[in-house]
Amino acid sequence: MDGIFTAEQAERGQAAYDRECAQCHLEDLLGDGIAPSLIGAPFHFRWSELSVGDMLVAIRTTMPQGAPASLSPRAYVDIVAYMLSRNDFPAGDMELPTDQDVLESIIIQEGQ
Ligand code: HEC
Repeated sequence: MDGIFTAEQAERGQAAYDRECAQCHLEDLLGDGIAPSLIGAPFHFRWSELSVGDMLVAIRTTMPQGAPASLSPRAYVDIVAYMLSRNDFPAGDMELPTDQDVLESIIIQEGQ
């Protein structure tokens, strides 16, 4: 899980997130009580031991609520990079790719 996205990618993801997701999950990612928090304990509870690919598929097939799969593949991975950065995973030199096989090989571990 070390350095699997770049800081620049997370910044792009933030821009997309603010546009497409923040209306419900809020700019601090804590959610509005109906839309869940995307950071901290709820994040780990939901995604620990699953892969980044699992998370991406879950997001793409259901979000934004009311318009699933409406973003580009790159926008979705950028948003995932942003979510990882906000959950204190470290940025590195390589961008998170859109390739599903690669994403499924990256397992999200508790305790980061
Ligand atoms: C119109 C409001 C709305 C928007 C916009 C929205 N969400 Fe959600 N989201 C929700 C609600 C409500 C839930 C909880 C119910 C559900 O899972 O469908 C949710 C659930 C989720 C979950 C948990 C899914 C799971 O399988 O546990 C994730 C992750 C998520 N949203 C990410 C995003 C991302 C990323 C975006 C932007 C691309 C986004 N959401 C846009 C309302 C929204």
